[in-house]
Amino acid sequence: MQISRALALGFGFGFLQVACVAPSSSAPSSAQSANSAPVVDKQASPSPTAWQDKRLSADQRAELLVNAMNQREKLTLVTGYFGVQQDWNHYNFKEARPQSAGFVPGVSRLGFTPQWQTDAGSGVATQREAPPALERTLLPSGILGASTWNPPLAELGGKMIGSEARSSGFNVMLAGGVNLMRDPGNGRNFEYGGEDPLLAGTMVGALVRGIQANHIVATVKHFALNNQELGRDRVNVVIDEAAARISDLLAFQIAIEHGDPGSVMCSYNLVNGVYACQNDWLLNQVLKRDWGFKGYVMTDWGAQHDTVLNANHGLDQETGVAQLGNYVFLDKLAGAIERKQVAQARLDDMVRRIARTLIEKGAVDEPVQLGPIDFAAHAQVTQAAAEDGIVLLKNQGLLPLGAKAKRIAVIGGHADVGVLTGGGSAQVYPPGGNAVPGLGPKDWPGPTVYAASSPLAALRSELPKATITWQSGADLEAASAAAQEADVAIVFATQWTTESLDFSLTLPDEQDRLIAAVARANKHTVVVLETGGPVLMPWLDQVGSVLEAWYPGSRGGPAIARVLSGAVNPSGHLPVTFPRTLEQLPRAKTAGEGLPKDAHFDVHYDEGAAVGYRWYAKKGHDPLFPFGHGLSYTTFAQSKLAATVDGGELKVTFTVRNTGKRAGQSVAQVYVSPVAGGWEAPERLGAFAKVQLAPGESRVLTLTVEPRLLSNYDLERKAFRIAPGVYRVSLKNSARDPGQKLNVSLAERVIPHK
Ligand code: BGC
Repeated sequence: MQISRALALGFGFGFLQVACVAPSSSAPSSAQSANSAPVVDKQASPSPTAWQDKRLSADQRAELLVNAMNQREKLTLVTGYFGVQQDWNHYNFKEARPQSAGFVPGVSRLGFTPQWQTDAGSGVATQREAPPALERTLLPSGILGASTWNPPLAELGGKMIGSEARSSGFNVMLAGGVNLMRDPGNGRNFEYGGEDPLLAGTMVGALVRGIQANHIVATVKHFALNNQELGRDRVNVVIDEAAARISDLLAFQIAIEHGDPGSVMCSYNLVNGVYACQNDWLLNQVLKRDWGFKGYVMTDWGAQHDTVLNANHGLDQETGVAQLGNYVFLDKLAGAIERKQVAQARLDDMVRRIARTLIEKGAVDEPVQLGPIDFAAHAQVTQAAAEDGIVLLKNQGLLPLGAKAKRIAVIGGHADVGVLTGGGSAQVYPPGGNAVPGLGPKDWPGPTVYAASSPLAALRSELPKATITWQSGADLEAASAAAQEADVAIVFATQWTTESLDFSLTLPDEQDRLIAAVARANKHTVVVLETGGPVLMPWLDQVGSVLEAWYPGSRGGPAIARVLSGAVNPSGHLPVTFPRTLEQLPRAKTAGEGLPKDAHFDVHYDEGAAVGYRWYAKKGHDPLFPFGHGLSYTTFAQSKLAATVDGGELKVTFTVRNTGKRAGQSVAQVYVSPVAGGWEAPERLGAFAKVQLAPGESRVLTLTVEPRLLSNYDLERKAFRIAPGVYRVSLKNSARDPGQKLNVSLAERVIPHK
């Protein structure tokens, strides 16, 4: 047997108790006589199926269901299993969808649906052991989604992947990754929404909204502060509460407000000494009490540790059970309830939350069904997303290629056959299978998968009059010779990143050498990056243009080609800062590096809420590319900046004009800062908007600054608080742009939790 995902996740094969998961058929004592009235009347002992009455509210129905269930059925709903049919999975439920992430049996006696769970935020994933892999449309990676700064587009993408989840028989999509980028080497940065709480929260919230429009549940994750993969189940994140509330937690809070996810997944790591999935502060106090979250908390796969602490501290559903008896709920929870370590009311609350959510989101009344998928239509959705989020980082007149480049040398990155995708549980196998088989780890989280969408082929069809040659890049001399003979050389450079591993910021496989060699041969060199996060660019001064295409999804080839050719005017802007050197980072080395394999360790987030661009500004570092940066083939001018305070809300008005000759999209970024200081860093992003403008067109925009971005978190009041005083409002093109500024006075404002 290959090393399985279960082993990679570190699940034990310890000693076993016999578990029976089949729902008992004995009727509960409370479920005796039928009562079809839509009004909940506890005295009247409604029929066991009274909960199915659609005229009742989700709360009422969930209550009836809980009352109709026996203890075994309740325990069934809070215990989730690995969905894969593999020899290491003891349970191997035949009702689980083939090779899926998770399965929770239903309660057939009461007609309550099973839960079929699939990853993730870029599409319907398949566990690697799945031959043949389910082929599904792949959206661009989350970080590219955030680079669009375009929430309606993210929502459209969510709708698309959610519909594929539905048609593939899944009613829970483990999607909505919103961990902030604190460490650029985190192998999962590609799944997330970048480094800023407002941008990440808004974009991920929009994706979640789209997914759930399909009457399925989405799961915002990984709650919380799971910002590195190295030792992810052993690392203890140490952070000050007030700082967490205005950074990582604010990203989750905003995503939850915008997306209303049915579920939140707690993470593997510890936070301030306590595992996230048994962390009373995170789950009971912050999420459920302060934010009023009415959905349910599920563990990341196998992140449950202690029955009593998990139950009492806010966990509602354990997941990923693969070995007999290796669970924390099921029988163990029954025992803990009998011993009065956990109240029966807590189990009822877990079940009520799960049932209410599935009813409210429509997963119960509109059961998922296997059905056809319109791959052609979905290809357009993913291509549009990629075209909107690819970021033009540098351009010294080489792009767009247009008609002037007659001879083009395309080199490297497997651009002849495909585009790179991110690995791990989020791995989607796009239509056409893996274009470059045999790469990456043999066992999970491998293999490395390239989507069969060739930038080279797409470029040839975009520019039929040009002569476009191909070199793999394996032979430096051949690559340089091809570059020398061309008008323009385009080097594709890739860096595979994945769940469960962290990465160096240096491009692998000597690609820096390849780029430098090509640039020496032809100063008209364009670099196209396909990376999961920021990378260092020692060759930057030698090349003419750089495009960051991230992992651009199953139509990445045409999307990249159309940006290069000029058919699409790039409008992506960075949702993260690219460091110039590792020394600029709060941690030049990933915490835990070099420690023994099983060591527990701390990571101290001494930077507090000064994440990303805020850190660079505080330290006066000049990054390689700042947060918010992104070039266009047209030019924009912003003018008439004004600000008003209206009912306590800060509103910023300005005019944006397309001053160039091409239609394009401008991303307006409003940053705020207290003139007297007192924040973790000089400035924060407070509002943004993306607008499409024809040449010469102008638009007046009014944006409301998110008040929590004007606040600090006041631990005594347990609320966000805007300190009275003078604030600077800056309208900028990136976090480093001087922009235009004005000052405005704000009164004190306390913003209580909803
Ligand atoms: C990942 C989650 C994922 C789960 C199920 C875990 O390894 O951290 O993001 O949803 O597996 O596949």
